[in-house]
Amino acid sequence: MKVLKERIIKDGKIREGNVLKVDAFLNHQLDIELFEQMGEEFKRRFEGKKITKILTIEASGIAIACIAARYFKVPVVFAKKTQTKNIAGDVYTSKVESFTHGKVYDIIVSKEFLRPEDHVLIIDDFLANGKALLGLTKLVQDAGATVVGAGIAIEKGFQDGGKLIRESGIQLESLAIIDAMSVEEGITFRK
Ligand code: G4P
Ligand code: NA
Ligand code: NA
Repeated sequence: MKVLKERIIKDGKIREGNVLKVDAFLNHQLDIELFEQMGEEFKRRFEGKKITKILTIEASGIAIACIAARYFKVPVVFAKKTQTKNIAGDVYTSKVESFTHGKVYDIIVSKEFLRPEDHVLIIDDFLANGKALLGLTKLVQDAGATVVGAGIAIEKGFQDGGKLIRESGIQLESLAIIDAMSVEEGITFRK
């Protein structure tokens, strides 16, 4: 998606450890007009697919998912992160290992909000190693619901997540895929 790639070039900041900071428009200050364009683009890429719910994960996925939901006209459910040992109640849970943060956390969704008849589009801001996305996929499968696909704003194509998800047969639509990134050479997008 041209406008997103241009914005990454203009306002993205490359940090140590292969981290791209996009606080100016995606992760801290939010450019809602850009989010609307992204929402429209997700809608176009999943045109004709039955979708009854969008699933994301707190925190940064929520805003993108909510604006996208305006185009799909479906509710948004976000998985909550918790480090609580004893998770009580009627929830689906999954463990996510964060490479970036070096810790494991549980994600949970109430059984009330993921039903077997749901057709779920998963949306998130970043795809790196894919652990969050795989965790979300597991929640949907545990509910007996259908994963229709995954929509990602920025995929770091040099990490393994994209490959893992595509190989699992899930329709993955990333609006910008970064194949290489360094302070010296800048950012190279996938064609
Ligand atoms: P993975 O889920 O793909 O395996 O990624 P990983 O554990 O490595 O990423 C942990 C967090 O960092 C995720 O957000 C992910 O979206 C984000 N992330 C990964 N790479 C980058 C990057 O280069 N730049 C930015 N800005 N974020 C990145 P989170 O911390 O779990 O959640 P939240 O920030 O949404 O609360
Ligand atoms: Na995220
Ligand atoms: Na994030």
